Amino acid sequence: MEKVYAGIIGLGRAGQMHLKNLLTISDIEIVQVADVFIENVSEKLNALGITNQTKDYHELLSNPKINTVFIFTSTDTHEEIVTAAAKAGKNIFCEKPLSMNTDEQASIKVLQEVKKAGVSLQIGFNRRMDPQFRAVHENIQNGKIGTPQMVKITSRDPDVLPHELIKRIGGLLFDFTMHDFDIARYMMHSNISEVYAKGGTLIDPTLKDINDIDTLALVLQFENGTYGLIDNSRRAVYGYDQRVEVFGSEGMLKAENVSGSTVELYNSKRTELSNPLPVFQERYRPAYIAEMKAFVKSLLLNKPVVAEGLDVIMAQRAASAAQKSLETGLPQKVDASYPLI
Ligand SMILES: NC(=O)c1ccc[n+]([C@@H]2O[C@H](COP(=O)([O-])OP(=O)(O)OC[C@H]3O[C@@H](n4cnc5c(N)ncnc54)[C@H](O)[C@@H]3O)[C@@H](O)[C@H]2O)c1
Repeated sequence: MEKVYAGIIGLGRAGQMHLKNLLTISDIEIVQVADVFIENVSEKLNALGITNQTKDYHELLSNPKINTVFIFTSTDTHEEIVTAAAKAGKNIFCEKPLSMNTDEQASIKVLQEVKKAGVSLQIGFNRRMDPQFRAVHENIQNGKIGTPQMVKITSRDPDVLPHELIKRIGGLLFDFTMHDFDIARYMMHSNISEVYAKGGTLIDPTLKDINDIDTLALVLQFENGTYGLIDNSRRAVYGYDQRVEVFGSEGMLKAENVSGSTVELYNSKRTELSNPLPVFQERYRPAYIAEMKAFVKSLLLNKPVVAEGLDVIMAQRAASAAQKSLETGLPQKVDASYPLI
C-alpha cells in the first residue's frame, strides 16, 4: 500500500479529536466521513475542508477508493461495524473495546472475520504510545530495573460521564479500566491470571441504577507470578490523574502526571506546581497522534500493529473477571492463555 485512503466512522468525543489529529499526518487522505448524526458536525467538517459526508457508514464501506476505516463510534456498534468493514476488505483502526459483551465470544467472532478477510486491525490502546509510558516500557525492556515484580497504576477521570454515554460505551470497568488492564499487561509482559476487585459508588450513587461504579481498587496477579495494583476513580477534582510505577529487583520506574506547565512556585509557606492536564484529549494528544502514525507505518511497511485484537480480548477478559469479583466478593481466576482465532 502506498497511501492510506481513509474513511472515518463516528464523530463524537473521540472521533472529532482523532479527526483533527489524523489531518496532521502525511500519508493519510481523508476520503469520506460518516456519522448517524452528521448534521451535528457538518459545519465543523466543512470548515476543515471535509465535504464528503454521509449518515450511512455502508455507503463509506462501498467506496472503492477507501482502503482503511477508522471506527470511533460508540462501543455498542463495534461488533457490527468492524465485521462489516472486514467483509468490505478494509483495513481497520477501532477504538477499544471490540464489544460491550462480557462474553468474549462476540469479540472472537469479530476477530475471525478480520482474519478471514486478511485485513489489518489496530485497537485504540493509545497509552502504549504515550511517550512517558513508552519510556517506562523501554527501560524495563532494557533491564534498567532488573526483573519487574509489581506494577502500580493510578488512573482517575476528572468527572463522571453522562449516564446516557455510559450506556453506549460501557461503565468504569469496560470503558476506563480497560486501558489499565492493557497497560498492566504491556509493562509486565505477562497476561493477567487472577483479579480481586473492590468498588462502589462514592461519588454518584445513581450510577447503581445503570449497574456501574465510580471507585475501584484492583489487585492483579500475572501468569509469571508478579503482581499489580490499579486504583480508579471517576472524579479527581485536580484533573486527569494518570500515573504508572513499575518496581523491580534492581530499581523502580515511575511516570508522573503531565501538566500544562513546568513552572513551580516555592515560597516560605508553600510549594505550588500546576495541576495535571485536565482531559484525555489533551493529556494523551501525543499518544493519539503516535498511535495513528504507527498504524499508518504498519500498513505502508507491512509491519505488526502496536495493539492487536488479542490484546483487547485479554483486557476484556480481565474486566469480566473483575466484574464477577465485584459481584461475588471473591478473587477470580483469569484464563491467561490466548484464545484460538
Ligand atoms: N482511547 C481513548 O482514550 C478513548 C477516549 C474516549 C472514547 N473512546 C472510545 O471511543 C468510542 C466512542 O466514544 P465517544 O465518547 O466518542 O462516544 P460518542 O457518543 O461521543 O461518539 C460516538 C459517535 O458515533 C456515532 N455513531 C453511533 N452509531 C453509529 C453508526 N451506526 N454509524 C455512524 N455513526 C454512529 C454517534 O452519532 C456519535 O457521534 C468508544 O468506544 C469509547 O470507548 C476511547
